[in-house]
Amino acid sequence: MAAATPDGKPSSILFVCLGNICRSPLAEGVFRSLVRERDLGRYLTIDSAGTGAWHVGDPPDSRAISKAAEHGVDISGQRARQFAAADFERFDLILAMDRANLETLRTKSPDRPHAGLFRFMEFALDDPSDVPDPYYGDSDGFETVYRMLERGSSAILDRI
Ligand code: 4NP
Repeated sequence: MAAATPDGKPSSILFVCLGNICRSPLAEGVFRSLVRERDLGRYLTIDSAGTGAWHVGDPPDSRAISKAAEHGVDISGQRARQFAAADFERFDLILAMDRANLETLRTKSPDRPHAGLFRFMEFALDDPSDVPDPYYGDSDGFETVYRMLERGSSAILDRI
Protein backbone atom coordinates (compact mmCIF):
# COMPACT_ATOMS: atom_id res chain seq x y z
CA MET A 1 0.00 0.00 0.00
CA ALA A 2 1.24 3.49 -0.73
CA ALA A 3 2.68 5.41 2.17
CA ALA A 4 0.26 7.61 4.03
CA THR A 5 1.22 11.03 5.33
CA PRO A 6 2.88 11.11 8.79
CA ASP A 7 -0.49 11.70 10.46
CA GLY A 8 -1.93 8.60 8.77
CA LYS A 9 -4.06 10.43 6.23
CA PRO A 10 -4.21 9.02 2.71
CA SER A 11 -1.56 10.21 0.29
CA SER A 12 -2.76 8.46 -2.85
CA ILE A 13 -6.29 8.38 -4.25
CA LEU A 14 -7.66 6.46 -7.20
CA PHE A 15 -11.11 7.11 -8.67
CA VAL A 16 -12.69 4.16 -10.48
CA CYS A 17 -15.68 3.89 -12.83
CA LEU A 18 -16.56 1.54 -15.68
CA GLY A 19 -15.03 3.12 -18.78
CA ASN A 20 -12.65 5.73 -17.32
CA ILE A 21 -13.96 8.23 -19.86
CA CYS A 22 -16.84 9.96 -17.99
CA ARG A 23 -17.13 9.83 -14.20
CA SER A 24 -13.67 8.98 -12.92
CA PRO A 25 -11.81 11.39 -15.25
CA LEU A 26 -14.20 14.11 -14.02
CA ALA A 27 -13.55 13.02 -10.42
CA GLU A 28 -9.80 13.15 -11.02
CA GLY A 29 -10.09 16.59 -12.61
CA VAL A 30 -12.37 18.07 -9.95
CA PHE A 31 -10.30 16.64 -7.13
CA ARG A 32 -7.02 17.86 -8.68
CA SER A 33 -8.41 21.33 -9.11
CA LEU A 34 -9.60 21.51 -5.49
CA VAL A 35 -6.25 20.15 -4.32
CA ARG A 36 -4.49 22.85 -6.31
CA GLU A 37 -6.75 25.54 -4.83
CA ARG A 38 -5.87 24.32 -1.35
CA ASP A 39 -2.18 24.02 -2.22
CA LEU A 40 -2.08 20.35 -1.20
CA GLY A 41 -0.63 18.99 -4.47
CA ARG A 42 2.71 17.93 -3.04
CA TYR A 43 1.05 15.60 -0.56
CA LEU A 44 -1.25 13.68 -2.88
CA THR A 45 -1.03 11.28 -5.81
CA ILE A 46 -4.30 11.35 -7.77
CA ASP A 47 -5.34 9.08 -10.63
CA SER A 48 -8.35 7.37 -12.21
CA ALA A 49 -9.06 4.04 -13.91
CA GLY A 50 -11.88 1.95 -15.35
CA THR A 51 -12.90 -1.59 -14.48
CA GLY A 52 -13.55 -2.15 -18.22
CA ALA A 53 -11.01 -2.08 -21.04
CA TRP A 54 -13.14 -0.78 -23.95
CA HIS A 55 -11.72 2.73 -23.92
CA VAL A 56 -8.10 2.18 -22.90
CA GLY A 57 -5.94 4.93 -24.40
CA ASP A 58 -8.92 7.16 -25.24
CA PRO A 59 -9.36 10.73 -24.04
CA PRO A 60 -12.38 11.42 -21.84
CA ASP A 61 -15.81 11.55 -23.51
CA SER A 62 -16.23 14.93 -25.25
CA ARG A 63 -19.25 15.70 -23.02
CA ALA A 64 -17.12 15.17 -19.92
CA ILE A 65 -14.36 17.39 -21.34
CA SER A 66 -16.95 20.14 -22.09
CA LYS A 67 -18.59 19.87 -18.68
CA ALA A 68 -15.25 20.15 -16.91
CA ALA A 69 -14.23 23.08 -19.14
CA GLU A 70 -17.49 24.88 -18.25
CA HIS A 71 -16.27 24.75 -14.66
CA GLY A 72 -12.73 25.83 -15.55
CA VAL A 73 -11.21 22.36 -15.30
CA ASP A 74 -9.16 20.86 -18.16
CA ILE A 75 -9.34 17.06 -18.34
CA SER A 76 -8.56 16.79 -22.07
CA GLY A 77 -5.05 15.42 -21.48
CA GLN A 78 -6.21 12.37 -19.56
CA ARG A 79 -6.13 8.92 -21.20
CA ALA A 80 -8.23 5.96 -20.09
CA ARG A 81 -6.60 2.97 -18.48
CA GLN A 82 -7.92 -0.21 -16.95
CA PHE A 83 -7.66 -0.87 -13.23
CA ALA A 84 -4.84 -3.31 -12.46
CA ALA A 85 -4.22 -5.46 -9.38
CA ALA A 86 -1.07 -3.42 -8.72
CA ASP A 87 -3.33 -0.44 -8.02
CA PHE A 88 -4.26 -2.09 -4.73
CA GLU A 89 -0.62 -1.64 -3.69
CA ARG A 90 -0.17 1.80 -5.20
CA PHE A 91 -3.21 3.57 -3.74
CA ASP A 92 -4.30 3.82 -0.15
CA LEU A 93 -7.75 5.18 -0.99
CA ILE A 94 -9.71 3.67 -3.91
CA LEU A 95 -13.12 5.21 -4.55
CA ALA A 96 -15.59 3.46 -6.85
CA MET A 97 -18.32 5.52 -8.50
CA ASP A 98 -21.07 2.94 -8.03
CA ARG A 99 -22.00 -0.38 -6.47
CA ALA A 100 -21.26 -2.41 -9.57
CA ASN A 101 -17.73 -1.07 -9.82
CA LEU A 102 -17.17 -1.54 -6.10
CA GLU A 103 -18.23 -5.19 -6.46
CA THR A 104 -15.93 -5.68 -9.45
CA LEU A 105 -13.01 -4.30 -7.45
CA ARG A 106 -13.86 -6.52 -4.49
CA THR A 107 -13.77 -9.61 -6.66
CA LYS A 108 -10.24 -8.66 -7.71
CA SER A 109 -8.97 -8.93 -4.12
CA PRO A 110 -11.14 -11.63 -2.53
CA ASP A 111 -8.48 -12.95 -0.14
CA ARG A 112 -7.01 -9.72 1.10
CA PRO A 113 -9.64 -6.96 1.08
CA HIS A 114 -8.19 -3.49 0.54
CA ALA A 115 -8.69 -1.38 3.66
CA GLY A 116 -9.27 1.82 1.70
CA LEU A 117 -11.83 0.63 -0.84
CA PHE A 118 -15.16 2.50 -0.71
CA ARG A 119 -17.97 3.90 -2.79
CA PHE A 120 -17.30 7.59 -3.53
CA MET A 121 -20.47 9.20 -2.12
CA GLU A 122 -20.57 6.89 0.86
CA PHE A 123 -16.99 7.72 1.79
CA ALA A 124 -17.37 11.43 1.08
CA LEU A 125 -20.76 12.25 2.56
CA ASP A 126 -22.17 9.07 4.09
CA ASP A 127 -24.63 9.24 1.19
CA PRO A 128 -25.92 5.94 -0.22
CA SER A 129 -26.20 7.35 -3.77
CA ASP A 130 -24.20 5.94 -6.63
CA VAL A 131 -22.62 8.47 -8.99
CA PRO A 132 -24.88 7.63 -11.96
CA ASP A 133 -23.41 6.53 -15.27
CA PRO A 134 -24.04 9.46 -17.68
CA TYR A 135 -22.73 7.71 -20.80
CA TYR A 136 -26.08 6.85 -22.40
CA GLY A 137 -27.92 9.95 -21.16
CA ASP A 138 -27.99 13.61 -22.13
CA SER A 139 -25.79 16.49 -20.97
CA ASP A 140 -27.94 17.04 -17.84
CA GLY A 141 -26.49 13.76 -16.58
CA PHE A 142 -22.98 15.18 -16.80
CA GLU A 143 -24.01 18.24 -14.81
CA THR A 144 -25.55 16.01 -12.10
CA VAL A 145 -22.37 13.95 -11.98
CA TYR A 146 -20.19 17.05 -11.87
CA ARG A 147 -22.13 18.52 -8.93
CA MET A 148 -21.93 15.26 -6.98
CA LEU A 149 -18.20 14.99 -7.59
CA GLU A 150 -17.60 18.58 -6.57
CA ARG A 151 -19.60 18.23 -3.36
CA GLY A 152 -18.03 14.87 -2.52
CA SER A 153 -14.47 15.90 -3.33
CA SER A 154 -14.76 19.01 -1.25
CA ALA A 155 -16.03 16.98 1.73
CA ILE A 156 -13.18 14.49 1.33
CA LEU A 157 -10.59 17.26 1.25
CA ASP A 158 -12.05 18.80 4.39
CA ARG A 159 -11.18 15.55 6.13
CA ILE A 160 -7.83 14.50 4.71
P1 4NP B 1 -17.90 5.87 -17.17
O1 4NP B 1 -19.03 5.79 -18.29
O2 4NP B 1 -17.87 4.52 -16.49
O3 4NP B 1 -18.37 6.94 -16.26
O4 4NP B 1 -16.60 6.18 -17.89
C1 4NP B 1 -19.07 4.81 -19.27
C2 4NP B 1 -18.28 4.90 -20.39
C3 4NP B 1 -18.34 3.94 -21.38
C4 4NP B 1 -19.19 2.86 -21.23
C5 4NP B 1 -19.97 2.75 -20.10
C6 4NP B 1 -19.91 3.72 -19.13
N1 4NP B 1 -19.27 1.88 -22.26
O5 4NP B 1 -20.09 0.97 -22.13
O6 4NP B 1 -18.52 1.96 -23.23
